[in-house]
Amino acid sequence: MKVLFISPHYPEEMQGFTRGLAAVGAEVYAVGDVPEAQLPAHVRRHLRGYVQVRELFDENAALAQLAPVAERLGIERVECLWEPCVLLAAALRERLGLPGMSRDTVLGFRDKTLMKRRLLAAGVRVPRFARVTSAGECFEAAEAIGYPVVIKPIAGAGSADTYAIRSPQEMERVIAQLGHLEEANLEEFIDGEEFTYDTVCIDGVPRFESVTKYYPKPMDGRHNEWISPAQLTYADPFARPELKGGIELGRAALKALGMGTGFTHMEWFRKPDGEVVFGEVAARAPGGKLVDGMNYANDFDVFREWARAACWRRYEGQPARRYHVAAIFKRAIGQGRIQRIVGAEALAQRCGPGLMAMDLTPLGQPRRDWLNTLLGDGFVILRHHDYGECLAMMWQAVKELQLYAG
Ligand SMILES: Nc1ncnc2c1ncn2[C@@H]1O[C@H](COP(=O)(O)OP(=O)(O)O)[C@@H](O)[C@H]1O
Ligand SMILES: [Mg+2]
Repeated sequence: MKVLFISPHYPEEMQGFTRGLAAVGAEVYAVGDVPEAQLPAHVRRHLRGYVQVRELFDENAALAQLAPVAERLGIERVECLWEPCVLLAAALRERLGLPGMSRDTVLGFRDKTLMKRRLLAAGVRVPRFARVTSAGECFEAAEAIGYPVVIKPIAGAGSADTYAIRSPQEMERVIAQLGHLEEANLEEFIDGEEFTYDTVCIDGVPRFESVTKYYPKPMDGRHNEWISPAQLTYADPFARPELKGGIELGRAALKALGMGTGFTHMEWFRKPDGEVVFGEVAARAPGGKLVDGMNYANDFDVFREWARAACWRRYEGQPARRYHVAAIFKRAIGQGRIQRIVGAEALAQRCGPGLMAMDLTPLGQPRRDWLNTLLGDGFVILRHHDYGECLAMMWQAVKELQLYAG
């Protein structure tokens, strides 16, 4: 099975998928915009070949360069799990007549307005929304939808340029900051807790499902430097009645959008009154260590099992559903270089064998720009059979583990 895999090393979790493809017997031909020599050696050794494209983000240019190469190589699958290139992968499949989701289907997972239109038509509860292209339209749409509202880019990522707006005065201020956007989405603000619903599907049928809760909502973590964003992946989402509505919503959304085979990553809200509302969905794996979280929860290798599904339409990962897993992302306090790390030993002691990873910016290194990296000044991953204990360990990592820069 010859597989063309776009972006084999970036973002970091792609390296696990590259390994997975090789592990299920695929001949991996990778595509990137850097010279092959710049790939990490542990990625390179899984590759049968590498194609360097001049321009990865110009779909037509990349297509023109890749299509003849793929034909010559006899490529049988084109896969990509990195959001900016999922449309390129679909366009290439179409051009070559290969199996997999069409460009139009993938567009439904990429364009947030089209996504909501398709879901609305299928009766899935989405926030009321409008596409806006001017300040006047913003005020009009907000009046029609009713404050509070959220404004965000059409194809955003990482909560960039995403704001909650509670009044026309606040709208005024936010519009002044968003002058660089030509158009945006304006939505009903959904108050409540925020979760993910992640799957590996074969021909639209979820073969593995996982739910993770965000602490706090990603938008709040993005706007407040003092917050250590965290997430908890449930050992067994089917055992928790409060997640049932979200899982059903997720299944309905995948059906409505015509999901085929591969990874999906959805976000959804649960309001204080219990109503569940769709947030967004992508036809790719989640970032932010969430795939690792699924593996630690289940003691399996979902990188490899995704690859088996993508290549062979088979899923063999037996989820153990044994552990709740928390990932916590730290941001140093102060500017300059890391001077002091507090609470790491106590946390390690508390977690014992449940401490799966602790990777912090080392002493003496410059602190990182918290706005430009989701991982910030490092992360901790921990797990426990008991939900309450996992949460307690998570809060200890959030509150008592600190890095100080100066
Ligand atoms: N309608 C909404 N109501 C409440 N919060 C929202 C809404 N839309 C987005 N958010 C917040 O903003 C974050 C980012 O928005 P999202 O649509 O997921 O875009 P992206 O993750 O691509 O930047 C969400 O995770 C959520 O915290
Ligand atoms: Mg999101």
